Amino acid sequence: MLRLGFWLLLVSVPLSSAFTPPAILATTVASSTASGAETGTVQQLDVPVNQVVTRVAVAGATGRVGRLVVEELLSRGVQEVVALVRDVEAAEEILGGTDAPANLQITQCNLSSKGQISSVLNDVDAMIWCATGFSQKPNAGPLEKAKGLLDLAMKKTIDVTALPVIGNVIKENNLGGKNPQQLPKVVMCSSAGVTRTIWDDEKKALMPGAADIPIVRLNPFGALDIKRSSEDKLRETGVDYTVVRPCGLNDEHPVGSRPLLSQGDVAVGRINRKDVARVLVDCLTLPEATGKTFEVIGVAGYPFGSIRGALSNLRSDEEGLPPLDAIVSTYTTLQQLLPGEKQDSAALAMGQTYEQLDKDEVGRLGERGKEILDDGAPRPSS
Ligand SMILES: NC(=O)c1ccc[n+]([C@@H]2O[C@H](COP(=O)([O-])OP(=O)(O)OC[C@H]3O[C@@H](n4cnc5c(N)ncnc54)[C@H](OP(=O)(O)O)[C@@H]3O)[C@@H](O)[C@H]2O)c1
Repeated sequence: MLRLGFWLLLVSVPLSSAFTPPAILATTVASSTASGAETGTVQQLDVPVNQVVTRVAVAGATGRVGRLVVEELLSRGVQEVVALVRDVEAAEEILGGTDAPANLQITQCNLSSKGQISSVLNDVDAMIWCATGFSQKPNAGPLEKAKGLLDLAMKKTIDVTALPVIGNVIKENNLGGKNPQQLPKVVMCSSAGVTRTIWDDEKKALMPGAADIPIVRLNPFGALDIKRSSEDKLRETGVDYTVVRPCGLNDEHPVGSRPLLSQGDVAVGRINRKDVARVLVDCLTLPEATGKTFEVIGVAGYPFGSIRGALSNLRSDEEGLPPLDAIVSTYTTLQQLLPGEKQDSAALAMGQTYEQLDKDEVGRLGERGKEILDDGAPRPSS
């Protein structure tokens, strides 16, 4: 079964908008409590999400991140949460069945259908994208499976085909409700590592701990390239967006770890899916998130505060990346946050944890360079 739910092991790099090299690019989250008390440079209080959006759609709502995003939106009092799912019955079970709150609308939408996407996006203020074409319905029949494989081979998964439709529909309908113009209207959960497959040799040699991690080295089904292309297609629509690139999604990583945001795609490390969900929802409320792309890890032991300060220090995609030496500086700093004792991300095999590396244990997919990726089912390896 195709469950390319794999992905990475990264660490995050930061970007300061106004700095010049050799400044360190890591941007930590300003310490700000949910009640708004802040100790960092950010003065403004964060606005509760239910004050800026009324109706939010979630693509991939049954997925491991998506269901947490649904939970997060509901717990933060968003009036209508529209869970877009391809199998309503399965979704009802995953999202709470008869116990599901009344403001959760489970809505049938196959993201490979342009028509279905357009028809369900009426009146939404914003959308959070947590779907990926690198998974296949658990009960998919042979035809569906074959189509899934063909889409992968043709690099035409929903990542690439649905996101531009969503961006265009939301932009053209000028959807927004209470969502002011400057706030992101599409927040995309992408992945760290998507640009590393096209780094030139010099850049790869400068930052092997980012360039040689298993997911980048193996890039199964060209998944990272497809993700990169889907980000571009979303940007091209001109909708107000944020692209969030989490590093290795790891459900064992402590929840409530401080998000460390960075840019330059040099981040390696871990983050809990619950924290990813919180970051994705937070972005909806923050104008500082609009038009930006960043990587994120969770730094255990430091509390999760407002991400507003960190976001405001990041560059917009229009401004572009900082100079290479600044990015390398960020890389060298972030490599020190790698899990484990050896802290050698390039030495990992796909499916091997940092802890296994420390103990010289082989990971679940075999030795580095000889990993067995049969049935297309590598799982998160960090
Ligand atoms: N795993 C990692 O370490 C990692 C790291 C960084 C980034 N990411 C990215 O993070 C995002 C979320 O990951 P995840 O682990 O939560 O993914 P996941 O559990 O595989 O969820 C994927 C979701 O997409 C939905 N989907 C797929 N095709 C669809 C279609 N045609 N129509 C409607 N829905 C469809 C699935 O629905 P069904 O329930 O019907 O299958 C499921 O809800 C993905 O974009 C992934 O690439 C992952």
